[in-house]
Amino acid sequence: MSPRTIIEPFRIHSVEPLRMTTEAERRAAIAAAGYNLFSLRSDDVLIDLLTDSGTGAMSSEQWAGIQRGDEAYAGSPSWYRFEAAVKALFPLDHVIPTHQGRAAEKILMTAIGGPGKKVPNNTHFDTTRANVEATGAEAVDLVIREGLDPALEHPFKGNMDLDRLEAFLGRHAVDVPAVFVTITNNSGGGQPVSLENLRGVRSLCDRFGVPLFLDACRFAENAWFIRERESGQAGREVADIVRDIAALADGMTMSAKKDGLANIGGWLAVRDDELAARCRNLLILTEGFPTYGGLAGRDLDAIAQGLSEVVQHDYLRYRVRSTAYLGDGLHRAGVPVMRPVGGHAVYIDARALLPHVPPLAYPGQAVAVALYEAGGIRACEIGTVMFGLHPDGSETPAALDLVRLAIPRRTYTQSHIDYVIEVCSEVAERSGHLRGYRITDAPPALRHFTARFEPLAD
Ligand code: F0G
Repeated sequence: MSPRTIIEPFRIHSVEPLRMTTEAERRAAIAAAGYNLFSLRSDDVLIDLLTDSGTGAMSSEQWAGIQRGDEAYAGSPSWYRFEAAVKALFPLDHVIPTHQGRAAEKILMTAIGGPGKKVPNNTHFDTTRANVEATGAEAVDLVIREGLDPALEHPFKGNMDLDRLEAFLGRHAVDVPAVFVTITNNSGGGQPVSLENLRGVRSLCDRFGVPLFLDACRFAENAWFIRERESGQAGREVADIVRDIAALADGMTMSAKKDGLANIGGWLAVRDDELAARCRNLLILTEGFPTYGGLAGRDLDAIAQGLSEVVQHDYLRYRVRSTAYLGDGLHRAGVPVMRPVGGHAVYIDARALLPHVPPLAYPGQAVAVALYEAGGIRACEIGTVMFGLHPDGSETPAALDLVRLAIPRRTYTQSHIDYVIEVCSEVAERSGHLRGYRITDAPPALRHFTARFEPLAD
């Protein structure tokens, strides 16, 4: 028999109680938080889908790794286990541990960015864009056009637009310190990039003499999609697909809070000796000695174990299927969601759901607040609040106004997800009554984390 029901390939070993709240309590809590979901106390949240970053459950073997962790300042066995686990998948010469992904981005961009430089990516994630721009460089998104149409079905909507990349490199190659590819493309809906597309990027990088870097946070989910969707890849070991991806890259930044299956951690890895030496010197200034880089030895062990679990097929089959279960449930209920469903999250198309709310009145924020008020679900706006503000202070609509329901790894069960589908459907039914928001207070960059909002009057 080949069962239709894909079960969680684990059972629960320790539980965290959820705190129930009333709608009146939630309305008060979100108003006090200036209608910013990041400003809520998390115990006022019932189902927390703000992010899949660092919010997953670790396995018993990872907790055993926490015990095994060796806290020597330099040369700890935990470091060697971490380095070996990273290199088993990404055989890059220099692995530089960091406390999370953005620290790797900051170090790399400090080393290679600067005024006048231009960094293309399929789509920059917010911190990646901010770290490029903080050096005075320009961040340019070149995802394929299909990737910008939420309803369109395409197997690899994260792919780089090779024609536009070629034209871009033709004009600017001397100013491009690296081409980045984000796998999976988080800001574009958690959509994968094909191996064929990565090979195309590699050959353009070779032609123009520019290094290729991966933003590899969700590499295992991307490799699973390659196995499922790309011709000639079915039946392969995911770890081998990951190694094929790694072979194309000159370097990578990584947040172990995603496909490291850990609660904290990351790394920067590069092939180039001279670049590695410069990055290690920067690492020592802000993160720590190169064999721990801002992490405890026990964190290094948890990541090493996580990397061996994240490429297991039973895990990835469950992971991708359970995310699709949410997306398919919402789609069936008539909630517009980005298609096909990505690996780590389901993205509601807030612009389609609230056509009466213009992008500069933040339809994504309106939907996210409504989900919290109605059912205690915390989601994340990925749209004009997050991307609409430019370094020169001007504001334009983002390419898409999405609300991301990110699924923490191995954390929620099917009944939690059924509840989420119910709440989202209820909010969608009365979406015509939802109003937009205006920002009353915001910092000059990464405003979505701390901005305060006010509902617009009817
Ligand atoms: N790159 C991508 C594609 C990401 O999704 C993230 C984080 C980072 C880099 C930065 O890593 O958080 O460890 O510093 N994304 C989280 C999210 C925060 O919610 O999607 P970090």
